[in-house]
Order: sequence, then structure tokens, then C-alpha cells
Amino acid sequence: MGRFPDGFLWGAATSAYQIEGSPLADGAGPSNWHRFCRLKGAIMNGDTGDVACDHYRRFREDVALMRALGLPSYRFSIAWSRVLPDGRGQPNTKGLDFYARLVDLLLEAGIQPLVTLHHWDLPAALDDRGGWTNRDSVEWFADYAHLMFERLADRVTLWATLNEPVLMSDAGYVKGVHAPGRRSVSEAAAVARHLLLAHGAAVEAFRGTAKGAIGIVVNLEPREPATGAAMDVEASRRADVYYNRQYLHPILTGDWPAGLAEILGPECRDFTATERERVTRPIDWVGVNYYSRRITRHGADPPLFADDVPIGGDRATDFGWEIYPEGLTRILTEVTERYGKIPLYVTENGAAFNDPEPELDGVVEDPRRVAYLRDHLAATLTAIERGADVRGYFAWSLLDNFEWQAGYSKRFGLIRVDFDSQRRTLKRSAEFYREVMASHGAALAV
Ligand code: FCB
Repeated sequence: MGRFPDGFLWGAATSAYQIEGSPLADGAGPSNWHRFCRLKGAIMNGDTGDVACDHYRRFREDVALMRALGLPSYRFSIAWSRVLPDGRGQPNTKGLDFYARLVDLLLEAGIQPLVTLHHWDLPAALDDRGGWTNRDSVEWFADYAHLMFERLADRVTLWATLNEPVLMSDAGYVKGVHAPGRRSVSEAAAVARHLLLAHGAAVEAFRGTAKGAIGIVVNLEPREPATGAAMDVEASRRADVYYNRQYLHPILTGDWPAGLAEILGPECRDFTATERERVTRPIDWVGVNYYSRRITRHGADPPLFADDVPIGGDRATDFGWEIYPEGLTRILTEVTERYGKIPLYVTENGAAFNDPEPELDGVVEDPRRVAYLRDHLAATLTAIERGADVRGYFAWSLLDNFEWQAGYSKRFGLIRVDFDSQRRTLKRSAEFYREVMASHGAALAV
């Protein structure tokens, strides 16, 4: 087995709305997720992020846990409406202080922060103005990014603009299963354009104020047709264009991917020269979130006319997502072949399993998660051996947390959270990962 390169960054990831709780504390404004969770039937069991892991109040304890795990790096996101309650205008000092304290504590513990500016929780006040369908969203985001760079970029050197933009546009504006719960194919092309421009505008703001490295986080899944039938092959191709290329392709090449206009409409055919310049502002790295492969067949629903074939049994996680480590090797090498040797981070990778309750004072035994991590870390190493410039790996997630529309029914954590008592208990996977990090990957070989 090969070696992880020197300087390879090991970490774990979370996002604000999924762990923080206290969404309106200390002058914070509501986010679109805060509002979405209150819609009847939107979230499983009527769960909300009101308490989540109570991290807003327990962040010291959580940083101590990270330190005990020997975590070299931690990826988290900022709740935009904590620092700008109306999404723009007057900043909220107490919200800014929270993130400043968190960063200081991480640095004192020797943990390098990777900050995601936006992981889906848009200020509700901006949603009232049309959210990402409004072209002004580009400037709203650039101003917010600028504020965060001014406050934190002297200490934080790794930044991501957006997390999984295709989930924002698809789940949020087309399928309506995420906030803001819109179901409008006709809005999706505008949302995509604004997200791309907002990303570029934040990169511009970064170059003007900060020195570190900035990138974007996309989720990639290899797509394969369920059968050799022409309709299935075509559906799989469309899904690949829509999910895997909609954002990365414009950012790295300046063009919408071929075939997207047939899915989202003719607006996805061209950029103006000014738009192209903005969208393609050079980035320093690409973050790849990887969970699964998708087997695709022809389907009935516009705009994609493509469905995923369900996978069950031992080959799948509790979410029904196929366990397919080879797919991680494949997407990391494909991105490298398609767009050149850009630095990559695996910014999320992990699995939901229904873990057993911990024994008194014992660990949580989660052998399937240990196997998942082991196999996906090995798959990352294979990609490196095949020429991908992978600079780091972040397990999803540090803590069991609020899993969007699945509420608290899906556990992804290395650390178990008892949501009644807020007690944290290490899982075996956390111990395994600690060994991997401490040995710089050598523990994978045993
Ligand atoms: C990704 C999200 C992350 C988490 C995982 C399971 O799509 O970025 O917040 O919910 O899925």
C-alpha cells in the first residue's frame, strides 16, 4: 500500500444548521431552514435544528473532543443569518464573536479550520426577496463573504465558497425537498447562474482581502445506466451533466456543460464576457463530497427524466446509498483528467448507519462505518497513486447531527450524540480514524 503525501490534511466536517442549535440566539436572524422546518411534513418526525447538537453553547466541549481525537483540521460552516441577521446591512457582533472564539479555540488546540461560507442556510430575509432567484443575491453573497474575510482571514487560511450548489438549486428550487421548498424548473437556470456568479464574486472579494486558499465544494457521484437500453443510457448521461457538471464545468472552463440547456432551458447556453470572467476567477482547490454511485434509468419527472435505481441490503447504508468505494477513486481521477491537475480535497465522506446504543462508559460499536472509512481512504490513496492531487480528507461527520429532511433519523457521526441528554460518546470509527490520522495512514494497512 502506498503512502499519503506529506502535508496531507486529515479532518472531520460539520455544518452550522446541522449542529449549532440556538438559531435565534444573541440577535441572530432566522434562516430559510429555520423556516422550512416549521412547514408541516417537510422534515421527518417534525424535527428541527432548534437544538441539534447544541454546539453553539457546547463548542468548547466539542473542540476538546476534537483535540482528544488528534484532529489536525476541522471543516465547519458559518450561519450567514447569525452574522448578518437580515442577510445584509448591519452585522451582529455577538454572532461574529462566536465564530471568532471558535476559530481561536481551534487554533489554540492546533486544529486548522476550513471554513465553508455557505452550507445551505440562507437568511430568511433574503429568501423574502427571492433568495437565489434574485440577481442581487450575487452582491449579497459577495458582501457577506467580504465581511467574513475581514474578520477571520488573518487566522483562517482555507475557505470554501458554497457547499454542493447543485443540491441548493435542485433540492431547494426544483424538487422542493430542501429549503426554500420551491418547485419550479423555470427558476432553476437563474438560480444556477446566480450561484455561479456569487461564487466568483466571493473569490474576487477574497483576492482583495485575504492570502489563503479558496475553493468550492461539489458533490460528485459516478452515474451508470441501469441497462443498455438507449433510454436508460440517455437518462444516465443527462443526470451526469446535471449533477456532476452543472457547476464545476462552468467554473473550470467558462462554459455551461453541453446538454444542460436541453435540461434547464436555453439560458444555460451562454455567459456574457463579464459573467464568464467572474465565474472562472481562478480557485486554489476543489472540494469533492463523495458518498455513493448512482445507477440511473429513464424516469417520468421533468426536467431530468431520470430516476435512481434503489439499492438495498448490505451493499447500502441506512440511507439506501450504495457502498461503492471505487467510485471515489473514479471521480477524483476523472476530475483530474477532465480539468487538469487541480488540488483536490475530499471535503465530505461518510455513512449513515443505525448504531447500537453505547454500553455504559463504553464506545459505540460501528463496524460497518469503520469498514466504510477504511475502504474509502484506501480508494483515496489509489486516486493519488493514479495522479490525482488530493491534499486532504474530511470525514462526514464529526457528530451525529440534523440530517436535513431526514431529521435525526440518520446518524453519520464519528461521535454519537444522545439528543436527549446531549451526551457525546466516541464510536469505534472515531478510534479507528484517530489511529489512521496519528499514523498518517499507516494504520490502514493493518
Ligand atoms: C451532503 C451534505 C451534508 C450532509 C451529507 C450527508 O450532501 O453536504 O450536509 O448532509 O450530505
